[in-house]
This record gives sequence, structure tokens and C-alpha cells, in this order.
Amino acid sequence: MITKIKGTYDILPSETRKWQELEEVIFQVSRLYNFKEIRTPIFEASELFHRSVGETTDIVKKETYDFSDRGNRLVTLRPEGTASVVRSVIENKLFADPNQPQKLYYVGPMFRYERPQKGRQRQFHQFGAEALGSYSPAVDAEMIAYAITLLKALRIPKVTVKINSLGDQESKEAYRAELVKYLEPKISELCSDCQSRFQVNPLRVLDCKIDKDSPILVAAPKPLDSLSPLAKIHFQGVLDRLQAMGVDYVIDKSLVRGLDYYTHTVFELEADLPTLGAQATIGGGGRYNDLVKNLDGPDYPAVGFAFGMERILLALDSIDNPSKPDYIHAFLIVLGQRSQAKAAEVMMRLRHGGLIVDTDFFGRPLKAQFKQAQRQNAMYILIMGDDEIEKDVVNVKNAKTGVQETIKSADLYQYIVQGIQSQSHSCNGQCESCADEC
Ligand code: HAM
Repeated sequence: MITKIKGTYDILPSETRKWQELEEVIFQVSRLYNFKEIRTPIFEASELFHRSVGETTDIVKKETYDFSDRGNRLVTLRPEGTASVVRSVIENKLFADPNQPQKLYYVGPMFRYERPQKGRQRQFHQFGAEALGSYSPAVDAEMIAYAITLLKALRIPKVTVKINSLGDQESKEAYRAELVKYLEPKISELCSDCQSRFQVNPLRVLDCKIDKDSPILVAAPKPLDSLSPLAKIHFQGVLDRLQAMGVDYVIDKSLVRGLDYYTHTVFELEADLPTLGAQATIGGGGRYNDLVKNLDGPDYPAVGFAFGMERILLALDSIDNPSKPDYIHAFLIVLGQRSQAKAAEVMMRLRHGGLIVDTDFFGRPLKAQFKQAQRQNAMYILIMGDDEIEKDVVNVKNAKTGVQETIKSADLYQYIVQGIQSQSHSCNGQCESCADEC
């Protein structure tokens, strides 16, 4: 038997509904903030991720799925969405669109060769959003509010927004100098990974998975202490707007994030829920004012975030979150050979009218067909045998009330539609049919 690749998993039909419900909320909230969807390829030139996420990050050094294709091009399965969005914005000149800022979101699979565990897969899904074109701190605050609105819409509690600032280039250079001065005499006490990171990109020492809690790193200088005057004003602008919007936050001076492209604001969303296990960080993001320029585009600032969708679904497992019950409008029980063709015609007619209809495809006995109708949560059970064909009628049973009536074939559609509209079935207003009526 061929089995799935380690770190991947199937989303089976019993699970897809909750994914669709999550996607539905993502689309609705994105619409509220007036973001438009962008879809980019799941593989890109490897160079794109090396130059954006950063050569010295764990993601690029240890986690990318790289291969050369049959034309000997080096390609990488995307480990995240920001680099692809930026590549697309440059290639398609969206920076020149009169509609600015460009407000884009995406939903899709990402690939990282990590050690799989609960909430951490090698193929996982992100919902991400990027706002490109504006330097204003109002956009940073807007992105955090957008992320929080999604969690509110999903009723996920116990969320903390952790926020920090790395500042502009000037601040980052000043901080780097401070960090090097501090780490130089102590670096031999840290792991070999830290020592090689120190040589190339000292900031990356701070997110070493082995030594991140060591007293040396805990006491290290913080980026906030090296902010330039302009960077301080920007950060204060973000905080003021968050406060005005009623978004609570905690300043985490040690937060640096694991990707190289950030400038100014960085943030993470943590949920304190038992079902998340060790993976409490459900999302993160920040500003990246230099990335577009560094990828050969114009000077074009940006800010964004991404959520892990598996982690959002794990968080939802902590709350009482009844999924809308699955149902169909009608199940057609067919008895006898002669009824088959007529049944196909009836089903076609009902479906063209927008009704969800299914039938038996095994020639099961009557009782087994009733069972199947129940399994599918059919609101109406339609019974057609040779007798009914002869009289051009259908026996219709209302699954909830048990009332059975004989209806003329020509009146069937109208009868079911009226019945659906008038009856409150077992969904308590939760199913799509009821929601549509509201
Ligand atoms: P990130 O922090 O690397 O940021 O990933 C965002 C979220 O994706 C994480 O908070 C986590 O929930 C989820 N995630 C990451 N790796 C895995 C995994 N192996 N399994 C399951 N979930 C995972 C980014 O990717 C940036 N592109 C975010 C961003 C957008 N910054 C600016 N714009």
C-alpha cells in the first residue's frame, strides 16, 4: 500500500465542511476590510525565497522543499505566501495600479520540512493578507485589527497580540552593532548553530531553537532600545491606533520573528487553548518596507500577516462550535427497473431548480434505502415505483413530521420548495437553507 508522505494528511469528506466554513468566514471578513484574493503558484524559483525569507533563516536553511525540474531550474515549494505575493506585485506592476494600497489575501497550502507534531505539518495551510503601498502606521494597525476580527468572528477566545518594533534600516543597523558588541565575548558559550548565525546574521541568534531561553539571550539588548526617532514615532502611531480601536496588545521586547524581511512592526497572535498543545502561535506578521525594493521592484512599503489554518481549527476544537448539520433536500427511493429512467428525469428537474437531491445506486431493498435517506439527513423522502410511474405521481414523506402524501409529478418541485420554506427542521436555523432565508 502506498501511504501519504510524512507530515502530510488527507482532509476527508467528514472534515471538509469545517474547512469550508472557515474559508467562508475568511472571505467575509476579508470583504469587510476590502481585501481581494490573489492566487499565486505553489512553486517558485528558489532564489525568490533565498532573497526574501533570508539565507540564514531556519526556513531557508533547513525547511524548504527544493528540487531541480526537468529543465534544470532550481524550484522550491513555497514555505510561505509573502514572497510570492511580492514577486507577483512586481511582475504584474500592481504597484502602478491607481488603486492603492493594494490589499490582497490568499488561502492555500505551504510546505516546510519541519518535525511533524500536533499543529505542525510539512504541508499546512495559511490564510495570509498583505497591504502594499503605504508607509502609514494606520495600515499596520488595520492589519492587526483584521486578524483580530477574524478570530472574533470565529469566537476564538484567550488571544494575546504580542507586538514589537525592529525599526527602519537605521535602527536595525544600530541594533545589530549593539547585539554584536554584547554577544562577541559570550558567543562561544552558545550552540554551534548560534556561532555560525552570529558570523552571518547576528539577529538570527535570537530565534535559535536550542538556546533561545538561555540567560545570555534573555539578557541581550532589545531592538526597541535602538529605534531611530522616526521608527519610534511609527511604532507609537501603531499603538495609538490599536488603542483607539480597542485592540488589546502586549509589547514583547524579545519578539523578532523568524523571517529576515521585517522592518518596524512585528506581531504574533497567541491563543491560550488546551487543544493547541505546544503550538500556541496561530498567526504572525509585520511590516516589510524594503522587500519589494530588494526583489528589484520600486520603493514600495508593505505590511501583512498569516495564520496557520490547521492551528485555527485546533483552536476551534476548544470551544463549543457546532458545525452546521449536513443535510439534503430530498432522497429519491426508486423501486423497480421501470422507475430508473423516470427517477433520473425527476432528479434532474429538482436539481435544476436548486434542490440538493440524491438517490440509491445499488438497487437496495426499500428499508435500506430509507436508512440511506436518514444517513444523508434528507428533509423529504420521495418514493417512486412502477405504480407511481403509471399514475404520474410521487409519494412524498416529510422526514421530520412523518406525514406522507401523494403528489402529482408536475407539482413535486413546488411542493418541496413550499415545504422547506414553511418547516423549521432539525437544524435550529443553522443550515444553509435557513441561513439563506434569513
Ligand atoms: P510565519 O510566522 O512563518 O509567518 O507563519 C505564519 C503562521 O503559519 C504561523 O503563526 C503558524 O500558525 C503557521 N505555520 C507555520 N509553520 C507551520 C507548520 N509547519 N505547520 C502548521 N502551521 C504552520 C509567515 O509565513 C509570514 N509570511 C507572515 C507574514 C505575512 N508576514 C508578513 N506578511
